[in-house]
Amino acid sequence: MPHDVKDLRRALGLYATGVTVITTRVAGTTVGLTANSFTSISLAPPLLLFCIGRSRNSFDAFREAPSFAINVLSSSQRELSDAFASSGQEKWSGVEYQDDRLGNPVFSESAAAFSCHRREIIDAADHMIVIGEIADYRQRQDALPLIYCRSRYCLPVDASSVAAA
Ligand SMILES: Cc1cc2nc3c(=O)[nH]c(=O)nc-3n(C[C@H](O)[C@H](O)[C@H](O)COP(=O)(O)O)c2cc1C
Repeated sequence: MPHDVKDLRRALGLYATGVTVITTRVAGTTVGLTANSFTSISLAPPLLLFCIGRSRNSFDAFREAPSFAINVLSSSQRELSDAFASSGQEKWSGVEYQDDRLGNPVFSESAAAFSCHRREIIDAADHMIVIGEIADYRQRQDALPLIYCRSRYCLPVDASSVAAA
C-alpha cells in the first residue's frame, strides 16, 4: 500500500500507550532509551517484548546484552522520558538509579520495573523485536502511569468520571 508516512504515524498515534525507559549495561557502560513499543506477551511463562529501530545508538547493545530492564514511567518522570529520547551518554548525567538483580539500571520513581533475560530476537524490516522473560519485577500501585497519545504526554483519567465524548 503506498502511504504517506507522516499520515500513518498520526493514525498510529491515536493508539495510547504507556512510556518506558529500557536499560541495559554493556561492558560496564549504562545504555537506555525511551520506548512505547513495550507489550506484554504471556503470563506463564512471563514474556514481554519491545521494538528498537536499527538507527538507534543503543541498537547493538540490546542485540548483544543477555538481560535488560523495562522501567514503566510514572507521571513524575516526563523529564526522564525526554532525556532518554535523545542520543548520547549525557542522558545519564544527574540521573539516579539502582542496579536490579540482573545488574541493569532501574529508577525508584518508576511505576513498575521488569528485570528480564533476553529470550529471542526477531528482525523486522528496520526494527528488531526483542522478547524477554521476566526474572524479577517491582511495582508502585500508588503511582500514576505516564501515557503517550497523539505525540503528547497525557495522564490517565478514570473514564467513568468523564461524560462520553
Ligand atoms: C514516547 C517515545 C517513544 C519511543 N519509542 C521508541 C521505541 O519503541 N523504539 C525505538 O527504537 N525508539 C523509540 N523512541 C525513540 C528513541 O527514544 C530515540 O530515538 C532515542 O534517541 C534513542 O536513543 P539512542 O539513539 O541512544 O539509542 C521513542 C521516543 C519517544 C519520545
